Amino acid sequence: MNRITQLFNIKYPIVQGGMIWNSGYKLASAVSNAGGLGLLGAGSMYPEVLREHIQKCKKATDKPFGVNVPMLYPNIEEIMNIIVEEGVKIVFTSAGNPKNWTSFLKERGITVVHVVSSSKFALKAQEAGVDAVVAEGFEAGGHNGREETTTMTLIPMVRENITIPLIAAGGIATGRGMLAAMVLGADGVQMGSRFAASFESSSHDNFKQTILEVKEGDTHLTLKELAPVRLVKNKFYNDVQELYAKCPTVDELKTLLGRARAKRGMFEGDLDEGELEIGQIAGLIHDIKPVSQIVEEVMTEFKAAQIQVASLL
Ligand SMILES: Cc1cc2nc3c(=O)[nH]c(=O)nc-3n(C[C@H](O)[C@H](O)[C@H](O)COP(=O)(O)O)c2cc1C
Repeated sequence: MNRITQLFNIKYPIVQGGMIWNSGYKLASAVSNAGGLGLLGAGSMYPEVLREHIQKCKKATDKPFGVNVPMLYPNIEEIMNIIVEEGVKIVFTSAGNPKNWTSFLKERGITVVHVVSSSKFALKAQEAGVDAVVAEGFEAGGHNGREETTTMTLIPMVRENITIPLIAAGGIATGRGMLAAMVLGADGVQMGSRFAASFESSSHDNFKQTILEVKEGDTHLTLKELAPVRLVKNKFYNDVQELYAKCPTVDELKTLLGRARAKRGMFEGDLDEGELEIGQIAGLIHDIKPVSQIVEEVMTEFKAAQIQVASLL
């Protein structure tokens, strides 16, 4: 038992990060059934779709699961009300101010975790009364901080600044990665990219195949003027870079991005025009597997690495 397994009442301190277009009820329930904490990604769901996924998730697992709510999306009030109505017990908020919703959720008996990319915001989240913090390094897939602080430096610095439980994210896909993060001061880990490349992820097979093909250097954190996001260097990414060469205005960037790019890329499988979000660690992901196998392998490697490290000196 540690602070994270206790907080969520789970077997292993492994959280599956909420991921737009990837983490529906099939992925979340599979992770929870495997002993981790599965999260539904509300960011790509209309409120009623989220309700449906919560209900299906409750049927697919009797273990704890949660919902990830990126606060930059619209319909936030409706989403929070559905979460309360459906009796969800755990909420991870991201991309916004933790002050906005923490007390509302906590007053209704919900465990609240906030995702940050710096010590400053980790402290703000702690002050806002959250139960734990996810500190996400620059390596991570999806939207990220502008400051480019890597997981290796972020975790010990956040650890130095807060006392509440800390979950490390960004660049963790193996048991060795998990052990490293915990040695640096994390109580648990959140993995995104590794779970995106699973049978149960709801993303398109073309996208899953791309994750396997991505090598070191094939992703880049860009669009910092809008919401910084780590993208695979595909045609759409190249179009963005061409526009940057012309010193575009924010409106011009917004126009190029348009609407529903992420859906087009990750859910519909348009590898040229779509936005493909994945972390740097994709370079270490070589197969698409069932979630149960991912969790089992991570834990086996974690335990073996502990012994190996202990024998190094
Ligand atoms: C495809 C994709 C979509 C993501 N969508 C979200 C999201 O909706 N909300 C969020 O808080 N984080 C999102 N993330 C970040 C993950 O929850 C997680 O923190 C991150 O993937 C961890 O880094 P890793 O990819 O190196 O494992 C996303 C990541 C990926 C790869």
